[in-house]
Amino acid sequence: MDYRLKLIGYPIQHSLSPWIHNKFLERTHLKGTYTLHEISPDASFDENVLTLKKEKVDGFNVTVPYKEEIIPYLNMLDDTAKQMGAVNTVVYREGKWIGYNTDGIGYLRSLESKYPTFFQNKSKRILLIGAGGAARGIYYALDRAGFDCIDIANRTKASAEEIAKLATLSSNTKVVSLKEAEEGIGNYDLIIQTTSVGMKPNVDTSILSFSQVKENAIASDIVYQPLQTKFLKEAEKNGAAIHYGHTMLLYQAQYAFEIWTNQKVPMDDLDLQLQTILEGR
Ligand code: ATR
Repeated sequence: MDYRLKLIGYPIQHSLSPWIHNKFLERTHLKGTYTLHEISPDASFDENVLTLKKEKVDGFNVTVPYKEEIIPYLNMLDDTAKQMGAVNTVVYREGKWIGYNTDGIGYLRSLESKYPTFFQNKSKRILLIGAGGAARGIYYALDRAGFDCIDIANRTKASAEEIAKLATLSSNTKVVSLKEAEEGIGNYDLIIQTTSVGMKPNVDTSILSFSQVKENAIASDIVYQPLQTKFLKEAEKNGAAIHYGHTMLLYQAQYAFEIWTNQKVPMDDLDLQLQTILEGR
C-alpha cells in the first residue's frame, strides 16, 4: 500500500508535520507521502474537500482554521472528536471518512514518555491554565485517564466552566482566576500551560509568575516556539521539573499515524531531533 497523507489548514508552509510524518514513514518502512494542501480562506473549502475526495487520499490532518469546518463533510466522528467539536485527523476507511482528535491523547502520551511514574497516583493535583481547544482536549484526556483532581484557571472564567462540564471523575474541579492560581501554585503536582502567552515573538511574557512551587512538581508548557518559554524558565528556577511543548506535537502525530496505518512508531530520539530543529529556528 502506498499511503497518501496530507495536511490541510492555513497558513501551513512552516508546519513541522511533514517532517514528523516522513520520519514515521521511514521508520516503519511503509511507502507513502505526506504533503501540504493549503486552503486559503479566500478559496472554496467545499471545492478543496471535493479535490481531496477525488484524489482518494488515505488520511489527512486538519489544522487551524478548519478543525470545525471539516466536520459536516465526515461520515463519522470518534467519541473524543464529538466531545471536542473539533477534528485534527481524518482517515478514509471502508468507504467512510472518520474524524478523530488526537491532541489530548497525544499530550498524555508525551507526559507518560517523560514522567511515567506520574501516572501511578491518579489523585495528584493538576492545574490546567487556559480554556481553548488544546485545554479542552487535555482536560478530557486526563479525566478519562482517571485523574480526579484537576483545577482550571483562565482569564475568562466562563470558558473554563464549559470545560469543567466534561468531567466524569473530576467532579471536584475548581475553576479559579489566574491570580488565585498564582497564589495557590504550591498546591499542584502538575501545572499545564495551554495559552498562547509566551509564544514567539512575545517571549518575555508568562501567563503567571512562580514564587514557590511544590517539590517534585512538573511544569508543562504546550508552547514550543520557543522551546524554553519564560513560564518554563521560571518554573525550573523554582525547582520544578519541566516538560517541553514539542513532545505533544510528536505524540499527537504518532497517534494520528497509528489511526492511518495501524503502526505505533517508536519515538526513540525523534524528540531530540525535533528539539534541534526548533532551537535552530
Ligand atoms: P487553542 O485552541 O490553541 O487552545 P485558543 O482557543 O485560541 O487556542 O485559546 C487561547 C487560550 O489562551 C484561552 O484560554 C485564552 O484565554 P481567554 O479564554 O480568556 O480568551 C488564553 N489567552 C490568550 N491570550 C491571553 C492573554 N494575553 N492573557 C491571558 N490569557 C490569554
